[in-house]
Amino acid sequence: PAQFAVFGHPIGHSLSPQIHRAFAQQFGISLDYRTIDATPADFAAAVRRFFAEDGHGANVTVPHKAAAFALADTRSEAASRAGSANVLTRLPDGRLAAHNTDGAGMVRDLTERHDMDLRGHTALLLGAGGAAHGVAWNLLDAGVETLTIVNRSPEAADALADAIGEPARAHTRYWEDLASIGSYDLIVNATSAGLLGVSLQLPFSLLGARALCYDLSYGAAAASFLAWAKTAGARYAFDGLGMLVETAADAFELWHGQRPDTEPVYQLLRSAT
Ligand code: ATR
Repeated sequence: PAQFAVFGHPIGHSLSPQIHRAFAQQFGISLDYRTIDATPADFAAAVRRFFAEDGHGANVTVPHKAAAFALADTRSEAASRAGSANVLTRLPDGRLAAHNTDGAGMVRDLTERHDMDLRGHTALLLGAGGAAHGVAWNLLDAGVETLTIVNRSPEAADALADAIGEPARAHTRYWEDLASIGSYDLIVNATSAGLLGVSLQLPFSLLGARALCYDLSYGAAAASFLAWAKTAGARYAFDGLGMLVETAADAFELWHGQRPDTEPVYQLLRSAT
C-alpha cells in the first residue's frame, strides 16, 4: 500500500499524522502516515529510501524544506519561488516532485477561516528565512499594498526582496530601526525566535489602528508574539494552527484527489491545545 510520512528533526510532536488521518477518515481511506526523524546529514538518504520502498507522498518540515527542494527532480512554481518545499510526491515515473503549500495555506487561513481581507494592507514581514520565503509571494498575491521585510541580518532580507523583484511594493528596513519605521496593518512573524524560546523585543509603535498580527508557528512557539500583539492593542492576533491544517489539506488533495473539510480538524486541534 502507498505510504505517507512527515520528515523533520525533531518530529515527535508533529500534528501532521493526526491531521492526515482525520482527513482520510472523511473519505473512508485507511492511511499509513508516520513520522520520520532524520538529521540534516541523513535527510536525503532517508527520503530516497522512503520513496524507493512504498512511499507515495511526504510532508517536510523544519529544518529540511530547502533540502527537500534541492533533491527533487521537478518543482512547482510555488516551491521554486520560495526555494523550499514542504511536500514531496512520487510521480508515476519514479521522479520526485517538490511543492510548497505554506503560503497558500496561510492566506487561506487568514482570508477564509478568519475572514480577513488583505487587500490594501501595509504588511510587515519579520524574518527572511525559509518560513518567510514560503509566504512572501502569497501575501503580495493576496493584495497587500506593500511588503516591508525586516530581518535581524539585513543580507537575508535584501536577498528576499531582490528575489521578489518588485521594488515599489516589496522592500527592506533594518531590524535596528523597528522603532522608527512607522506602523502596519498586518504584521507577520516568520522568525524562528519563538521556536527557539526567545522573545522578540518589538516596539508597540509597529501596530496600526486596526492591526492584524499573525504568527506562522503555533502553541508555545507563538505565545510570546501573540502576547505582545494583544498588549500592543492588535485588533486580531492569530497563530499558525489554521495554516498548518490548510497546508496539510493541499497536500492531501494532491495525493488523494479529494479536498478534505479542514474546519472540524482545526476545531479538534484548537480544543486540544
Ligand atoms: P525558518 O525555516 O523557520 O524560517 P530559518 O530559515 O533558519 O528558519 O530562518 C530563521 C529566521 O528567524 C531568520 O530570519 C532569523 O534571522 P537571521 O537571518 O538574522 O538569523 C530569524 N530569527 C531567529 N532568531 C531570531 C531572533 N532572536 N531575533 C530575530 N530574528 C530571529
